Amino acid sequence: MPARPESVRLGHVVVDVRLEEETPQRVLRQIRADLLRTPREIAPRFFYDDRGSELFERITELPEYYQTRTERALLHEISGDVARRCGCPVLVELGSGASSKTRVLLDAFADAHGCEVYVPFDVSEGIVRRAADELASEYPGLSVHAVIGDFTHHLEYIPSEARRLIIFLGGTIGNFTPAQARDFLTRVASVMQRDEYFLLGVDLIKDVATLEAAYNDSQGVTAAFNRNILNVVNAVADADFVPQAFEHRAFFDTVEHRIDLRLVSRREQSVRLRRAGLLLLLRDGDEIRTEISVKYDQRLTRELLRDCGLELVEWYTDPESLFGLALARRPSSGAAG
Ligand code: SAH
Ligand code: AVI
Repeated sequence: MPARPESVRLGHVVVDVRLEEETPQRVLRQIRADLLRTPREIAPRFFYDDRGSELFERITELPEYYQTRTERALLHEISGDVARRCGCPVLVELGSGASSKTRVLLDAFADAHGCEVYVPFDVSEGIVRRAADELASEYPGLSVHAVIGDFTHHLEYIPSEARRLIIFLGGTIGNFTPAQARDFLTRVASVMQRDEYFLLGVDLIKDVATLEAAYNDSQGVTAAFNRNILNVVNAVADADFVPQAFEHRAFFDTVEHRIDLRLVSRREQSVRLRRAGLLLLLRDGDEIRTEISVKYDQRLTRELLRDCGLELVEWYTDPESLFGLALARRPSSGAAG
C-alpha cells in the first residue's frame, strides 16, 4: 500500500498556503521589470483575484469560447482510458481554478480504481477553497489537499507520497512563451517519479476568425477580465491605474501562432505604482501586453514534451480538432521521445 500524505485525513480538506512565502519585493520587482519591457507587460497570474477568477468562469461559458466545452466533452470520451492506463491514487491539478472539469476525471477514477487524494494547485485562494469544499462533499472518502501557490515557484509543495496523475488543463500552457513552457514542464517532469503520468490540455491552431472571436466576445466579458488585471496590480503595488482608461485588444499573431492580449491606453496618462517605485508615462495608444495564448498542434506538443523529458503516450482530440489532450509520462528508462 502506498503511504498517504500524513497531513491529509481521508474525507477532509487541507489548504496549504504557500504564497505568503513569496517576498513582496520579488513580486514588485517583477511587476516593475515587466512594465519597463518593450512591449510593456503584466504577468497573467495577476488576472486571478476573486473577481478575475469569477470573470474567467464566465468566459468559459461564452458561446465564442469553445475551449472549455470542447475539452470537457473530450474528457468525457477519454477519462476512462486515462484512468485505466494511469491507475494513480492521487490526482494533482495545476491551475485548477474552479475544478469544474475535474469531476469528469474523478468519476472515471471512481469507476476504475478510486481516487484517494485530489490536489488542486492554484494562485487564486478563494475559488480553490470553494472548489475544495464542494469536491470533498460531493466525493465521500476523497481527501482534498489544496496548495495555494505560484506554479512557477512552488511545485515542490505537491505531495509526493503516492503515485500521481498530474493534469494541466484549459490550454493554460499556452499562457507561457515556448521557452517558459519548456522551463515549466522541465520542472514538472523533475518532480515526477518514473511512470507517473501527466495530462496536458492544449488549444489547437485553427482559423483566425474562430480564434479571434474567442478573445473578443460580444458580451465584453473578456474585455472586463483583461481590465481587471489593473485592479489587481493596483492592490499589489499600491498603484492608480484607471481600468476604464484602457481599451481591450486581442489579435492572433500568425507567426508565433498565438493570441496576444493587450490593454491600449485611451489617452495620455501617468500611472504611479508606489510600492514598485515606478511612475509610468503612457501616450494615447500605448499598449501593455497582459497575456499570450500560444496555440499548438500534435507535433509541437510532442516536441515540447520530449524537450522536457516527457514521452507522449496518447494524443486525443475532438472531431473538429479544436482542442487536444496529451497523455505523457516520464519514461521508466532511457531518454524520452
Ligand atoms: N484549469 C481551469 C482554469 C484555467 S484558468 C480550466 O481549465 O478551466 C488558469 C488558472 O491558472 C486560474 O485558475 C489561475 O488562477 C491559475 N494560475 C494562473 N497563473 C498561475 C500561477 N502562476 N500559479 C498558479 N496558478 C496560476
Ligand atoms: C487560462 N487561459 C488558458 C485562458 C486562455 O484562453 O489563454 C485565459 C483567457 N484569456 C482570455 N480569455 C481566456
